[in-house]
Amino acid sequence: MKENIITALDIGSSTIRSLLVKCKSQDHMEILGISELPSSGIEKGIVKDIQAVSDCVRKALEEVETVAGTNAVNIFANITGEHIKTHVGDGRISIPTASPNEPGEIDQAHVDQVINDAKNSVKIQKGFERSQILHGIPQGYVIDGQDDIRNPVRMIGFHLITKVYTIFADITPLRNLSKSIELAGYEIEPENFVLSHIAIANAVLSEDERRLGTILLDIGGGTCDISLFHRGVLEKILVVPMAGSAITEDLAIGLKTNLANAEYIKTQYGIALASSVDPEVEVDVEGIAGRESNRKTQHLVSHVIQHRVEEMLSLCYDRLKNYYTPELVTAGIVLTGGTARLQQIDKVVENAFNMHVKVAAPDLSRLNGMVSHLDDPAFATVVGLLYHAASLDRELKAPTSRAARFGTTKIADKIKQIYKDFTT
Ligand SMILES: Nc1ncnc2c1ncn2[C@@H]1O[C@H](COP(=O)(O)OP(=O)(O)OP(=O)(O)O)[C@@H](O)[C@H]1O
Ligand SMILES: [Mg+2]
Repeated sequence: MKENIITALDIGSSTIRSLLVKCKSQDHMEILGISELPSSGIEKGIVKDIQAVSDCVRKALEEVETVAGTNAVNIFANITGEHIKTHVGDGRISIPTASPNEPGEIDQAHVDQVINDAKNSVKIQKGFERSQILHGIPQGYVIDGQDDIRNPVRMIGFHLITKVYTIFADITPLRNLSKSIELAGYEIEPENFVLSHIAIANAVLSEDERRLGTILLDIGGGTCDISLFHRGVLEKILVVPMAGSAITEDLAIGLKTNLANAEYIKTQYGIALASSVDPEVEVDVEGIAGRESNRKTQHLVSHVIQHRVEEMLSLCYDRLKNYYTPELVTAGIVLTGGTARLQQIDKVVENAFNMHVKVAAPDLSRLNGMVSHLDDPAFATVVGLLYHAASLDRELKAPTSRAARFGTTKIADKIKQIYKDFTT
């Protein structure tokens, strides 16, 4: 792979995060810029106010560009939401042979062809006309009746069959997301949208976890993104439209305070397991719109949080339960997303699923530069987008210098200094 710039853009319901890196190889990337800003105009993965989303995208990308001194090109962004659909279908091809009774050798082009055959067969089915394929994940191959083949390249056969798990996004939410990036003044190729689940898995899951079976659960602001891995492959994805924002809203109602104060109390004093909270401790609660403030016990705060977390997990469990048995998920649950920062949430998840739970931050071994800020479960998506982009065998655009747009370097220097203070 040629040395290149990759820009990862995680457009979340609560936060927009961007990383701009110089990619030297799949395993060696240098961070040139990081940005993290509150997002607005997007809820549960769906654009609700295109101008607001595009303003956030522009701010986030301008910030990384300024720090990096280079333009944000080769943008890869995530997509999630209840509109994501999946389908399992077969692809089959004949391998060209020199003579009718002599099998041929399978190469990568044949593998790509059989996966495309499965993907395209779904596209023409009813219900998928207004969808775009995001990913086709082969679940294993069969060569002339021999099944469970993991990698058929260089093997010999007459016929190659594969079962493919195809993931689609509805065209309307996808186009609106794309348009909000264009309105911000940037370009994104249609094939550079990556399902959040796939990005996150790239950042946090080991080969062992994929093989032994894992439920990957990202609890963000608007959605719980659930992925089930088994025998090394992604077998099922689900999206539950409830996450951290619902906890904040419950706190605002339960404590009679505004959303900003509820968010502050959640992130500063929130503990997901009410039984572990000292009943004597109290917290200050601001009144709504200038009303008198008062004090509430941390136990009450915790009680409200636990109630909502349990409801959210019960929705996740109900959606997921038909697709796995505990013995297929030997590695347990891996938890990411901003809500995974909530104290003791791992214990509540453990009780709900009766499984071991690990809170995971992204693997940063392939990055150098300012990595310490990324050691956080909320950065799994944006780091995973980078890893996904770096793994593609695709021609990327050459970097272009950013300096000319500023005329003077004074603003850039100032932002660089703020950025330096923020990351050290
Ligand atoms: N320390 C903390 N304790 C509890 N909750 C937290 C903490 N830090 C962040 N959160 C919550 O995490 C959520 C945001 O997580 P994240 O940044 O992963 O979401 P997002 O990617 O913007 O949303 P989504 O993935 O759902 O579109 C918010 O609800 C926020 O309140
Ligand atoms: Mg997210």
